[in-house]
Order: sequence, then structure tokens, then C-alpha cells
Amino acid sequence: MYMWTVCLVLAFCACFSHGQDGFEVPDATVEAFTPRGLRVSIPDQDGIKLFALHAKINEEMNGREAGTFSRDITKAKDGRWTFYDSQAKLAVGDTLYFWTFVDYFDGERKLGFVRDDQFFTITELLPKPGAKPPPASVPTVTPVTKSPSIDTGSNGGCKVSTTTVRGKNSCRGQLIFDSSFDQFAKNKANLWTIQRKFATGPDYEFVIYEDNPIVLSVENSRLAITPILTDSLYGEGFVVRPEGFDLGEKCTGVRASAECYQTALGWRIIPPVISSQLKTKGKFSFKYGKIEVRAKLPKGDWLYPELYLNSESEEYGSGYESGQIRIAFAAGNEGESRKLEGGVILGSIPAARKYAMKTIEKTQSWTDDFHNFSALWKPDSITLSVDNMVYGTIFPPEGGFASLATNLHLKNSDKWKSGTKIAPFDKEMHIVVGVGAGGHNFDDRSDGTKPWFNNQPISQKEFYKARNQWQSSWKTEAKLQVEYVKVWALD
Ligand SMILES: *[C@@H]1O[C@H](CO)[C@@H](O)[C@H](O)[C@H]1NC(C)=O
Repeated sequence: MYMWTVCLVLAFCACFSHGQDGFEVPDATVEAFTPRGLRVSIPDQDGIKLFALHAKINEEMNGREAGTFSRDITKAKDGRWTFYDSQAKLAVGDTLYFWTFVDYFDGERKLGFVRDDQFFTITELLPKPGAKPPPASVPTVTPVTKSPSIDTGSNGGCKVSTTTVRGKNSCRGQLIFDSSFDQFAKNKANLWTIQRKFATGPDYEFVIYEDNPIVLSVENSRLAITPILTDSLYGEGFVVRPEGFDLGEKCTGVRASAECYQTALGWRIIPPVISSQLKTKGKFSFKYGKIEVRAKLPKGDWLYPELYLNSESEEYGSGYESGQIRIAFAAGNEGESRKLEGGVILGSIPAARKYAMKTIEKTQSWTDDFHNFSALWKPDSITLSVDNMVYGTIFPPEGGFASLATNLHLKNSDKWKSGTKIAPFDKEMHIVVGVGAGGHNFDDRSDGTKPWFNNQPISQKEFYKARNQWQSSWKTEAKLQVEYVKVWALD
């Protein structure tokens, strides 16, 4: 059984609707009350003659079965068609599965419209209509000694966590994000934005991110990102075409910038690799918690996984000015993939990329198997683990990460001083999942084994020119496979 946690309150997730003749069953609003009560309603509109709800808690509907809650509502009240059950008892984290039905009179005929496969995860319990409000609203920062708790009556008790999801506190230990890729095609728009842009700073990877089924797919319920050469998708020599490449209307980057349109001229070429990158920005973001990704990292020269947390609103500045948490990173090159890295990135120069990176090495390659990679992000530290084995914890230095400004050439880090001691990692972040190739994630070397130098305009072309050296290492395992991404609130 899959679970899809949506973290919107009183909002509804997009699901299938049966719209004909211009009518669609409106989005339902789901509200759960403490100690008891469940209300599901839709707004009234001309022509609606009947509303029916069929629902179950924490169990998917078996087709159009009646369900635990099953009722026809024959009259609208105060502008809404409302199902209300005063005895229903739901807890935060419960999911209501349901389908709705509406009789609609279009002026000539009365037609029935169904909306199947709906669900809503309860993220808060509201005071019962007409009852007095609960004692206190939940504070943003929970004191360590005394935490307020929302009493939901019995087993479903919620103890407030320091973890927030889109500004609201979660319950301790609660699973707040669970990707289920077997439902990806249907549900991806609820949680993910699929990038369509040319990669630019801060890593300048040699990649165009696209939403292409050859590159981005679901295999055996796992998300798979399989980068390919731009020339092999669009034709030999495509990357040196002077007319360039315009991603057009669908570009998710900044319009009329190098994120959406690039040309080739002299040393400048179109990125030679097409890959994919997904992010939850604007859909799911959180502060503090444990994130775990079960994945098989890509194997192949100069490929690398992008399993990041990036700042949701970039209050401290763009890119690394707001920091980045890396859940797992390994170069796809044979030999180098025996080293796994995780940690935080504070700035663009190599020293700022390395300062807070933890590593763990083994004799085999980390790209050979699936592993559980996790980061435990707390208000005072970030701990990296793989397969439940801790390999490093990062504590900010006395004076915070901003005190490293001179040594690490940090830009704008003065702003971090306005935050907590773990700033810039004291703001909500969103999840990024993707595959990169080349760019600034590989240090320059003098032994000639890396075909380009960073910070040179010609670097991408040098990488492309050397393709006979690395292309043959991209075999069937040159892809990132992700079984799940889960996030839990702190205990
Ligand atoms: C990794 O996660 C999977 C799925 O949750 C679990 O079955 C497995 O035991 C975990 N492996 C380790 C080594 O922790």
C-alpha cells in the first residue's frame, strides 16, 4: 500500500475528474476536528442538485464502494454542500480516501458526475465548530524543556515537533513526506516540478534538464534518471549548431536567460548531456527532520547524483549563499566511487565545498548497489548516515558558519549572523533529485585525467571533445534509481 502525504491544510490535491459538458465536480474541502468530527464539503453552484460522499480512513477505496462514510446530501447550506459526521475520529497523519458524486442539472437534463481516487492527509485538527478554541496556538520554536501537545484524545496523540512543514509544526516522529514512484505518473504534479532548463551556477554542470521519457522514467516502481548525449537525442553535431537551442514556453528557468536559450559559437557549445532534475520547491519544504533516500547511484565517468536540500525561499541569497545539504554524493567514475560524501556546502570555491563534507570509503563502489542514505538535520547539527551507519556529524563552529567567511571566501555570509547558530541551515528547504555530469563538482587536477578545467569558458567543449574517453563508461548502470524519498519530523 502506498501513501502520499500532502502537506496542505484545507486544500485539495489534484486528482482525476470526469468532466463532460463543461462541468467538473468541485474540489472538496476536508476538515477534521478535535476531539471528534469530520466535514467534507464542496462549494454550491447553479445546477448542483445532490452531493454524495463515499470515504474510508487510511484505506484506499475499492473502486466505487460505499465506504465507511457514505451519504447523499440533498440540500446546500450556507453556500456549501456539506457532509458532516460528528462521531468520526481522525488523527494528524490519517489519510481520508474518498470519491464524490454530484447530480448536475444543465438546464435540460440532470446528469451524474463522479470524481474518483481522491485522498487527503490530515495535517491538523481544528477546534470543533461551536466549541471553545484550544488553549494555545503552536509556537514556531518549541522549548526543549516543555513542549505543548495537541491532545487528540487517544492513540492518535500529537506531540509538537520542532520540525516545520511549510511553516506549520509537525507531530514528533511523523512521516511528513513519502514519495511513491509507482503512482508517479498520476501524482507527480502534487509534489514535484520537473526542471526544463540549461544548468547554470553554482555547479555549471554540462547538462540540459528535460522532461523526456527516455531520460526520466519509472522502472519497477523506482524513479530512474538515465542521462544521454544531446547529440544522440537530437542528431550528431547538434551541440555545435550556431542556431542554438531554445527550450521555449515550457522552460522552468529564467526566461530570456542562459537557463532557457543557448547558442554555440567558437568555444561555446550547447550542453552535451541531457538529464533530469526534480524539485519539490513550492510544493513541499521543511525545516529540521530526517530525510532518507533509498537509491542506486549512477555509474559512469563524470556522472553524479543530485540528492540535495536547497533553500526554499533563499532568504540569505541565491545558490550557495543559502547553503545546500547533500544527502549523498559519489562520482560515477570507477575507483572514485569508492568514496561517498555527504554534508553541507557553504560556498562555491573548492574549500567551501569541502569544509563540511563528511566521507566514508569502502573497497567496493558505492554505485554497485542500493543503499539507504540519510541526513538528520537538527537545530544544532547535521548527521550523515548510510545504511543506518553514521559517518559524520557537522557542528557549526563557535561563531557560526559565518565566522569562516574569510577562509572560505563566502559571499553574503554576514546575513547568516541574523539567524540561529546553524544558519544558513535554519530556514525551510526543499528536496532536489537529479543527475549531473561534469562541471564544478570535480576538482581540477594536473595529471591529465580530467578533460577540462573549471572556470574556463571552453571547459564544456573540452569535455565534449574528450567523449571518446568517457562515453564508453556509460553503460546500463549509468542511471540514478530512487526507490523512495522519505522525511520524518524530529522526535
Ligand atoms: C534500507 O531500507 C529498506 C527499506 O526501508 C530496509 O528494508 C532495509 O533494511 C534498510 N537497510 C539498512 C541496511 O538499513
